[in-house]
Parts: sequence; structure tokens; C-alpha cells
Amino acid sequence: MKFAPTSVNCSPLRIKFLRTDDAKAKLDPALSEGNRHKVHAAPVTAILAYDRGFHRHLPELFPHADAKSWFVGNEPYREETAFRNSSLQGGYFILAARALGLDAGPLSGFDNDMVDGLFFAEGDPDYRSNFLCNLGYGDSSKLYPRSPRLAFEQVCEFL
Ligand SMILES: Cc1cc2nc3c(=O)[nH]c(=O)nc-3n(C[C@H](O)[C@H](O)[C@H](O)COP(=O)(O)O)c2cc1C
Repeated sequence: MKFAPTSVNCSPLRIKFLRTDDAKAKLDPALSEGNRHKVHAAPVTAILAYDRGFHRHLPELFPHADAKSWFVGNEPYREETAFRNSSLQGGYFILAARALGLDAGPLSGFDNDMVDGLFFAEGDPDYRSNFLCNLGYGDSSKLYPRSPRLAFEQVCEFL
């Protein structure tokens, strides 16, 4: 996950792993009703967020060009770049967890603004939540079977 690519190596994903009942209780009011029990049943819930100030790290992460200057004073470009690349990194995160044998349950059914206020407003005001991901070992007797996917021909076109 760490070495999978992001544009200009910007690596905007930031993760908080909620491991305790207290941390889960803090998240609780922001959850949609249908997701509440999933969070409380999981040993760990990760908040996957992005740092809109990611460009501060570019002199270290992308030393062969002055990439930081491309983002200074351009908030919409920073937002778009951070959201796209943190979503990619979130996908890498799910695959990495599954490669380790864990089950990963991503969730977007929550109030992002509330999570940002509860977890990031004080220490990390540049962070914005993207999605949550439960980690653990699912009980296959209680899980739905995997849903169908679209066929190659439905989603791909050779030109
Ligand atoms: C970004 C993202 C957000 C999701 N949000 C929710 C959610 O809020 N609640 C939920 O129960 N499942 C959520 N899911 C799970 C998807 O519904 C699930 O991965 C999809 O239906 C495929 O399921 P399957 O692998 O069991 O076939 C989310 C998945 C992703 C990738």
C-alpha cells in the first residue's frame, strides 16, 4: 500500500485507527443507522482521510521538481488531487488488508462534516474524511454471498 502510486507521489492519505470503545463512541453520532452495528462489531474501524496540506511534503516526496509551488494558492486543485489520490490509496488499503487475510468493510454512510469536526478540527484542520473501513475477520455464516459484477464486455471497449 505504501509503495503504490499517487500523482507527484503526493501520498495524501491519513489514517486514524479506532481501536477502543471510547473512540468508537466518539464516531457513533456520525454513523448512518444501518452502519452503526457494523462499526461496533469490528475490532478496528479506520477513518481514511486526506490532507489538503499534502503539498508541504512534496520537497521530500518529489525532490526532482518544485511540485509544491504548483499547489500553493490553488485550493480547488489541492482538493481534487487529494481526494483522487486518497481514494486510490484507500483502494490499495482494502487490497492490502485482504492480502493479509483480513476482511475489510468500507463505509461511506456517515456524516463527513461531523467526523471532521469530531476528529480533525482541533489537531488536523487540513484533514477531511474520505471513507471509513472496518477491519477484522467476518463471520461467513452471517455475510451475504458476494454480489455479481459487470462482465468485461459491459465495462471495456477496444478502440
Ligand atoms: C467507498 C465505499 C463505500 C461503501 N459504503 C458502504 C456503507 O456505507 N455501508 C455498507 O454496508 N457497505 C458499504 N460499502 C460496501 C459495498 O456496498 C460493497 O463493497 C459492494 O456492494 C460489494 O459487495 P460484495 O463484495 O459483497 O459483492 C461501501 C464500499 C465502498 C468501496
